[in-house]
Amino acid sequence: MIRTRWLVGSLILAYAVTASAQQPTTATPIAMPPSLGEQQAQNGLPTNGQTGSVSEISESRILPNGVEIRSGRTIMRVTALRDDILRVQAAVTGGQPLTEDGSWAVLPGLREKTVAVESTSNPSTLGFRTKLLDVRIDRATARLVIADLQGNIINADALGHTTNFQNGSFRVSKTLPSDEHFFGLGDKTGPLDRREQAFSMWNTDAFGFQESTDPIYKTIPFFLSIDHGVSYGIFLDNTWRSSFDFGRSERLAYSFGSEGGPLDYYFLYGPEPKQVVEDYAYLTGAPPLPPLWSFGYQQSRYSYTPASRLREVADRLRKDKIPADVLWLDIDFQDRNRPFTVDPKTFPNMPQLLADLRAQHFHTVAITDLHVAKVPGEGYAPYDTGIAGDHFVHNPDGSVFSGVVWPGPSVFPDFTQQQSRAWWGTLYKQFVGYGFAGFWNDMNEPSVFDGPGKTMPLTTVHRIDEPGFATRTATHAEIHNLYGMQNARGTYEGVLKLNPGERPFVMTRASYSGGQRYSVTWTGDNSATWNHLRMSTSMLENLGLSGYAFAGADVGGFANSPQPALLTKWLEVAAFQPIDRDHSAKGTADHEPWVNGPEQEALVRKFINARYRLLPYLYTVAEETSRTGLPMIRPLFLEFPHANKDGHPVDLDAGGEFMFGPSLLIAPPAYPDTLDKYSLNLPGNGWYDFWTGKQLPAIPSEAELKVLFQASPDGSTMQSPAAQAAMKAINANRIQPTEEELPVYVRAGSILPMQPLVQSTEDVPQGPLQLRVYPPVGSGAACAGSIYLDDGHSFRYQQGEYLREEFTCARTADGISVKVSPQQGSFVPWWKQMEIVVYGWQQASAHASVDGQRMKAQVEATESAVRVVIPASASGVEVVLTR
Ligand code: GLC
Repeated sequence: MIRTRWLVGSLILAYAVTASAQQPTTATPIAMPPSLGEQQAQNGLPTNGQTGSVSEISESRILPNGVEIRSGRTIMRVTALRDDILRVQAAVTGGQPLTEDGSWAVLPGLREKTVAVESTSNPSTLGFRTKLLDVRIDRATARLVIADLQGNIINADALGHTTNFQNGSFRVSKTLPSDEHFFGLGDKTGPLDRREQAFSMWNTDAFGFQESTDPIYKTIPFFLSIDHGVSYGIFLDNTWRSSFDFGRSERLAYSFGSEGGPLDYYFLYGPEPKQVVEDYAYLTGAPPLPPLWSFGYQQSRYSYTPASRLREVADRLRKDKIPADVLWLDIDFQDRNRPFTVDPKTFPNMPQLLADLRAQHFHTVAITDLHVAKVPGEGYAPYDTGIAGDHFVHNPDGSVFSGVVWPGPSVFPDFTQQQSRAWWGTLYKQFVGYGFAGFWNDMNEPSVFDGPGKTMPLTTVHRIDEPGFATRTATHAEIHNLYGMQNARGTYEGVLKLNPGERPFVMTRASYSGGQRYSVTWTGDNSATWNHLRMSTSMLENLGLSGYAFAGADVGGFANSPQPALLTKWLEVAAFQPIDRDHSAKGTADHEPWVNGPEQEALVRKFINARYRLLPYLYTVAEETSRTGLPMIRPLFLEFPHANKDGHPVDLDAGGEFMFGPSLLIAPPAYPDTLDKYSLNLPGNGWYDFWTGKQLPAIPSEAELKVLFQASPDGSTMQSPAAQAAMKAINANRIQPTEEELPVYVRAGSILPMQPLVQSTEDVPQGPLQLRVYPPVGSGAACAGSIYLDDGHSFRYQQGEYLREEFTCARTADGISVKVSPQQGSFVPWWKQMEIVVYGWQQASAHASVDGQRMKAQVEATESAVRVVIPASASGVEVVLTR
């Protein structure tokens, strides 16, 4: 594919030519319901109704960190927070400066960050340079163009499009090069790549959503772009109903806009995609490290009731040796669906039940929906105390809004007020005391069964009380998309306050950018179909790129009953997803791992066992996530941005493949129910089969293949040993899907920490920590891994009670050397020994020396591996293996 890049110098010329050759086109707006401005106007409410445009510059101001322009009544400011992060703001202020500068998403203090820039203004453009970016605004059109310092344009406003404000709504259009691809936007359905798709952001209870359903539960107005291996991101910080169109309505432009609120977006420069993801975490926060138990297998159902049924499930998991850590209680444990109550008939002694389950090493998570039953005079504390404190959302006339949800008529906390969130947090006191380990905030779009569009009327009134914002009222039109996030925030902060020593575990359904600071999430009410299993990968990948690294999809599908083969395959794949929670709807067939008989159960067990053996690796990746925001489940391009010569993302040619952390590549077929053979696309060479330890033979390059398979009159080239080896390598990359197998590969140059099998994260593994070493192709190539560990549940790691060790390996003339770094941190691990297993060992014998002392090494010929067990040492060690 051809790369469309221009130099800034030729830009103005290019524009002049294009502008004279064709009339500027106007963006075709994507089909949308009546605008919020219109709806508000119809309801006699203020419309936030400015009208104006960013076009010819009438006035400009050079700022120490950027530029500000005036274009008629509109003001636009482009500033640099860092050398690689820009902020673009525009508003129709009628000549007044920009005023309120609040954000629910961007971390406090960050918007004030600035970096000094060098002004580059000239007669035709206004602009500045950071150490990485060149920013120019055309004086005649106000067109914004961002380039690198070599003059390669990274992002430019679309030619012939003006940013207009109409009754408070706006749209920004950008040039769409022919090979630009888009990712992110949270939980949106459809293919991984957002190109040629359009989406709107309006948190929606989307029960039974399908591949083309939009909008669904979350609003994460952040996307990451890749064009020829160069990546940038844009985060539109706007909570109103916004929309994104990546070349669906226009071929040469993509656009984003909103029906109200501020035009306020951040441009995050890579050029590596990982940098963009880290920049987004820098702005909106990396997710906190969840408790270790949340990476275990989780069993849920709508609903396990009565208590004896939950005990049965717990007992069976242990009896059948299906490792598991978490059990979930859905709404039916409550008294008449009233949040924060327990049905005394079906769950007569909740604290005892939870204590018994804890003794079996289970953690129990309870649903706590936000809707509060409207039952005055019945002694229901959430309602009574909420009314007393005026904590519920109002109607325009000042009365309390009520709508129907699970408990019947309900009222809705106003989570935008600090004191209402604090009050909400106090509601958890009893449940925390009972011993619930985590909480589930569902229905928080909010879902209102009898409301317009299944939510609150847009006219309901919230009261904003948040630093950065004026203390003011806001209609639901502004608050809707962040309601779920603030619900989760109230829960997280409340639970933390009640139990300050423990990491809160909160799962939310709806959210807004930054919500990852308070909660993990799941993809909502999916269905038991093969297509939904397939979609779970792209949804989780895009969620991961959008800040929600800790996420899962209902394993087995929520709606409808999965066929045995589907349930088994789903449980296999989900073993390699961040949150592995099996959940199902009322009225559907049971989903637990044993429901389809011992054969299927044995298959499932094998994969859950593998997850548990991989926990040291998983937790190490999770800890990295909590520092950097890099997701656990990763599209291939994140690890291999330059896998393709022309720089297009390798995932577009890689079917159902995904990375789990930096080292594991999971390769289900693109269509998981297919029985046809399919080809792997493994970036680079030297991958190892995770299950057998065998290295896949290297596939020769295209050029080499051409030479090998050049037709010769008698076909003799095909017979050459080199050609035969090439054919073998190609065949090894062809997979026949089976029910029992899920292809998993390890990247050459990885060192994976693994542990002996346990039945829960609470069990102490018995035996050595295993380090699986997968040597790189060729000497000198990187070979590394690491382990992070702590107590798994408290914050003591922040005071140094953790363990971190780095591993490296290097090929030597006649073998390999493996180094374990001295331990950082003071946490005392469970292992006393380390078992080092080096794969790809072709020799019949091996000698080992550990810090110069000879040790026994055992060659496993069938696995092409060699094993050495050494005493663990906090001061580091070097193991040298020779023939
Ligand atoms: C919603 C949730 C689902 C839950 C059900 C009952 O549909 O998405 O997971 O089981 O409500 O609480």
